[in-house]
Amino acid sequence: MLRISFWQKFLDGVPEYLARHYWWAYLWRPAIWFFDHQPIINLILFGQYKRLMTQTLQCLENRPAGRMLQLTCVYGKLTPAVLEVPGNQPMYLIDVVTAQIQASCSKLAPARRAQLLPVRMNAESLAFQDNSFSTVLIFFLMHEMPTAARQRTLAETVRVLQPGGRLVITEYDEEPCNHWIYRRHWLRKQLLFWEPFLEDFWREDLSALLQQEAHRQGKALQQVERHPVFDGFYRVLVYEMDA
Ligand SMILES: C[S@@+](CC[C@H](N)C(=O)[O-])C[C@H]1O[C@@H](n2cnc3c(N)ncnc32)[C@H](O)[C@@H]1O
Repeated sequence: MLRISFWQKFLDGVPEYLARHYWWAYLWRPAIWFFDHQPIINLILFGQYKRLMTQTLQCLENRPAGRMLQLTCVYGKLTPAVLEVPGNQPMYLIDVVTAQIQASCSKLAPARRAQLLPVRMNAESLAFQDNSFSTVLIFFLMHEMPTAARQRTLAETVRVLQPGGRLVITEYDEEPCNHWIYRRHWLRKQLLFWEPFLEDFWREDLSALLQQEAHRQGKALQQVERHPVFDGFYRVLVYEMDA
């Protein structure tokens, strides 16, 4: 008799890593309800949600005119906050999980719902034409992907970002060896237990990866801003594609 593991029940067209390692966070409906509360997501980010969101919004100020894409849903009030800023409407939002898209839509005021254009899509293979967006926003997605999926997603991001466009990435910083959280062995172990790809991500040179990918595609991209948050445990990065 064929036996399937518990997590395989969540596969349903989503990448294997997501079902295997994150079913309890993003695919199981009671979990989506539970985590999408501001105090819970703030706790997961060690109390830094507000600072991260404020910095992310600042990095989107004066963004180049044109279409904006948020690459995957996020818990908390980031998406409604981005949509409140004049000039950010309409905004495209993609996620590979239908329930996540539904949760994002349900957080919007009725007047804002028509301004969000949500599509179920895999970030590793975007169904948008080259140079479709002037702005791409990625909030804490990269560290949740295995290396190959991360590379494919970055390649797709570069492909859909138009010359003169802006990319904002909010993420864990590079390996924070001197941070008090990292130095507490048991706390680091806990974090890496729940975030199995984070250790790899800590050691990845995100800017080099993006620049190599841009070069491969005949484009050029520069890091123009870097904002450490929580003493360098997190960061908000801004890149611009050469015009
Ligand atoms: C942005 S990340 C993490 C966000 C962060 N933990 C938070 O909520 O603040 C989580 C989202 O990414 C989505 N996701 C993960 N891998 C994906 C992929 N390859 N394509 C599209 N969506 C993906 C998940 O379904 C989930 O909704």
